[in-house]
Amino acid sequence: MKFDNSLAYAAVALLAGGQVAYTISLDLTSPDSIKEAASTIAYDLMSYYTGNNTGDVPGCLPEPYYWWEAGALFGAMIDYWHYTGDTTYNDVTSEALLFQVGPYQDYMPPNQTKTEGNDDQSFWALAVMSAAETNFQDPPESQPQWLALAQAVFNMQAARWDHTSCGGGLRWQIFPFNTGYDYKNSVTNGCFFNLGARLAKYTGNDTYARWAERTWDWMTAIGLLDHNYYVYDGSNDDTNCTQINRIPWTYNAGALLLGAANMYNYTNGSDIWGGRVWGLLKSTEIFFSDGIMQEVSCEPSDLCNVDQLSFKAYLSRWMAATIKMAPFTYETVMAYLRPSAAAAAQQCSGGKNGRMCGLKWTDGSTWDGSSGVGQQMAALEIIQSNLVERVAGPVTNTTGGTSAGNASAGTKPDDTNIITPATTGDKFGAACVTTLVVVMFVGSLYWIIV
Ligand SMILES: *[C@@H]1O[C@H](CO)[C@@H](O)[C@H](O)[C@H]1NC(C)=O
Ligand SMILES: *[C@@H]1O[C@H](CO)[C@@H](O)[C@H](O)[C@H]1NC(C)=O
Ligand SMILES: *[C@@H]1O[C@H](CO)[C@@H](O)[C@H](O)[C@H]1NC(C)=O
Ligand SMILES: *[C@@H]1O[C@H](CO)[C@@H](O)[C@H](O)[C@H]1NC(C)=O
Ligand SMILES: *[C@@H]1O[C@H](CO)[C@@H](O)[C@H](O)[C@H]1NC(C)=O
Ligand SMILES: *[C@@H]1O[C@H](CO)[C@@H](O)[C@H](O)[C@H]1NC(C)=O
Repeated sequence: MKFDNSLAYAAVALLAGGQVAYTISLDLTSPDSIKEAASTIAYDLMSYYTGNNTGDVPGCLPEPYYWWEAGALFGAMIDYWHYTGDTTYNDVTSEALLFQVGPYQDYMPPNQTKTEGNDDQSFWALAVMSAAETNFQDPPESQPQWLALAQAVFNMQAARWDHTSCGGGLRWQIFPFNTGYDYKNSVTNGCFFNLGARLAKYTGNDTYARWAERTWDWMTAIGLLDHNYYVYDGSNDDTNCTQINRIPWTYNAGALLLGAANMYNYTNGSDIWGGRVWGLLKSTEIFFSDGIMQEVSCEPSDLCNVDQLSFKAYLSRWMAATIKMAPFTYETVMAYLRPSAAAAAQQCSGGKNGRMCGLKWTDGSTWDGSSGVGQQMAALEIIQSNLVERVAGPVTNTTGGTSAGNASAGTKPDDTNIITPATTGDKFGAACVTTLVVVMFVGSLYWIIV
């Protein structure tokens, strides 16, 4: 069955490839073809990254991309290496992940802290969690280690669990002076759940699993997660979370899905978690149009902001990873990943080089006119995910995982990190290289004046 399907998609892709000169060719029945497509898209994705240039800051993307998205990018590059075996970007990835750890080795670097949210911190933690799970090259001993970094972020966020409203939950923002401190949302709590479940699986430490359960129960109690397993955006604590902002986003569903799959596996296949995995997987249907993934809340209306343009990358990533922890999902997940990958490859048909990827995979080979880190990362993740059955699943510390952990990492209180409210300059600073841009701007004015 599965091979019949993929043959059909390959035929569609080839047909389009014959008619449209630059569409990236992709034959889903051929691992080499998938790797080649992924390699081209990864190269174009990394062409946005300036942190490897002399004098620039490792781990930073240029404007308009925020710091969190760079963390997401390096998570994608770890996946890229894991799925394809291509080590081209490993050193750059390692350098970036280590440069941004901050003085307390917890992804709270002073350039970012004033505007940093829990979810921003999580995307870096999830990248290093992937590094531990895939045995990505360990840093030198003098440097912080992947697992310990993930544990540091987890411990800090557990300490931020907030009992003062809504019966618990994590706030979106870390500091009261930032807009969104009163919002308790699914991406924040979903990433914490995802990380906790994976740490439980990796380390066997039940404390993480209990936090994951607690987070799931709280999200259910508040109604961020409903009885049909739809995941909503968030709720404000000034209503004690009695009103829910019901807008759906792909990455929220994905974060919960992979977390639930890890809990399923950690509990040796419990019925409760199996049912939850299945329910979440069914509920992702709303993000697929004729089997092709769509960011339904903004893509059809062309209203996705820079962050939102990247969300499909994470649903793709986490759906594929779900297969390893809950193999019973294989057929269902692949029935989504294959047609979406074939469609995404066709959408890589525009921009300067004629092969930059648009976001609207449902548009076939007619490029939607957009390109950027988010679009490129989403195409990369959905395409390389089709190699999932050819690679090993996550390791744990009893099955060959080499990353060194530290269960008490990150237990410094937040006030050691901080802090006064951000000035306008700091807020712009949230996109990493603003300083450089300003310097260049002033520099060019200088030349005009002279
Ligand atoms: C990053 O910079 C180093 C040093 O200049 C260089 O050797 C390497 O090829 C660069 N890597 C990438 C992926 O651009
Ligand atoms: C923080 O910003 C300064 C000034 O732009 C830069 O030199 C430094 O490398 C940055 N540090 C990090 C961790 O991004
Ligand atoms: C707020 O919601 C929580 C959880 O639903 C509940 O336990 C608590 O009593 C509520 N507080 C107020 C003041 O209504
Ligand atoms: C899962 O099975 C293993 C091996 O039999 C056992 O050691 C472990 O305690 C079980 N885990 C749970 C959460 O039941
Ligand atoms: C847990 O994950 C392992 C590794 O991928 C897999 O072999 C095993 O079947 C999974 N357990 C269950 C209950 O599905
Ligand atoms: C398990 O994790 C908790 C929370 O980080 C930690 O306090 C505890 O020491 C860990 N237990 C072991 C045996 O590592």
